[in-house]
Amino acid sequence: MMNSELLSRAVETLRRGGVIALPTETVYGLAANAEDELAVRRVFAIKGRPATHPLIVHVARAEALDTWARRVPEEARRLAAAFWPGPLTLVLPRSERATDAITGGQDTVAVRVPNHPVALAVLDAMGGGVAAPSANRFGKVSPTTAEHVRADLGDEVDLILDGGPCTVGLESTIVDLSGDEPAVLRPGGLPVEEVERVLGRPVPVRTSSTVRVSGSLSSHYAPRAGVLLAEPGGVIERVEALRAQGRSVGVLGPPSLSLPAGVPRYDVPEDPAGAARVLYMRLREADQHGHDVLVACLPRAEGLGVAVRDRLARAAAPRPNGDGA
Ligand code: TXA
Ligand code: MG
Repeated sequence: MMNSELLSRAVETLRRGGVIALPTETVYGLAANAEDELAVRRVFAIKGRPATHPLIVHVARAEALDTWARRVPEEARRLAAAFWPGPLTLVLPRSERATDAITGGQDTVAVRVPNHPVALAVLDAMGGGVAAPSANRFGKVSPTTAEHVRADLGDEVDLILDGGPCTVGLESTIVDLSGDEPAVLRPGGLPVEEVERVLGRPVPVRTSSTVRVSGSLSSHYAPRAGVLLAEPGGVIERVEALRAQGRSVGVLGPPSLSLPAGVPRYDVPEDPAGAARVLYMRLREADQHGHDVLVACLPRAEGLGVAVRDRLARAAAPRPNGDGA
């Protein structure tokens, strides 16, 4: 836990319009007072993120939903009761408290209660809502340790709180409950099956909706090296073909995968939750070795494996500026 001096510094910094890096169970967030427009603008500037991409408001308790949303459907209450604090974000019709600076001018607001003692302590003491996108530059890999934040954003944030490595490792699952039917806008740290179980009905994944969800751009979460995807049975063949072309190759995959001599493996466990926990960390480690290409072995498409596959697919997507593979 955090000492009380650090806690009050964090709260003071937020209250006077500062920006801090905040650990959550999913990824580290770049946090500002959600009701301070200048502070929120600084978050966009530090990230290099287009101002039209909305932010998630983080709160200490589910009851705060009623102040940020003008209408809270029964299904939202059920999900909040089942999974908060936790890796779930709810999108609801916004109240007047949620300004355009947060929502990107949309009529909806995204809210979540993170499950991390440091984040909860700060939110509780601060008393309001904190806007916090992942603490990385736009389009890059999200940070899962304080060290990642320091390496990426260092001097640009007023305070970095170190809460240890994130236990979930992937961003929250975003569920849109602002329309007639619920939909998943971003698969994430809460398996979609769990959402369906509590709602008692199928919930479609609609990542290509018209809503601007930046994590749903085709190229996102991208390391410097090119990324190629392979099912477990196809990894070796891919690696050999790339090596024959003279490329420096690294592999993201489970320890059970045996690789040709001289090809480094960055361990990503077979079990989906384990894979989610380390994926971003391994992408960063692999990137430090300057490979031309990373071949990523895809986990099963169940539970958190759906979100891991989603992030890998975006890391592998063609890049707008033409770099990488
Ligand atoms: O796990 C997480 O959600 C992390 C931690 C820090 O809480 N935060 C995070 O924030 O991933 P960010 O900004 O990187 O991603 C938030 C996503 C964006 O893709 C954004 O477009 C979407 O949430 N979003 C925010 N408000 C929305 C809204 N009103 N409707 C639809 N999508 C929204
Ligand atoms: Mg992000």
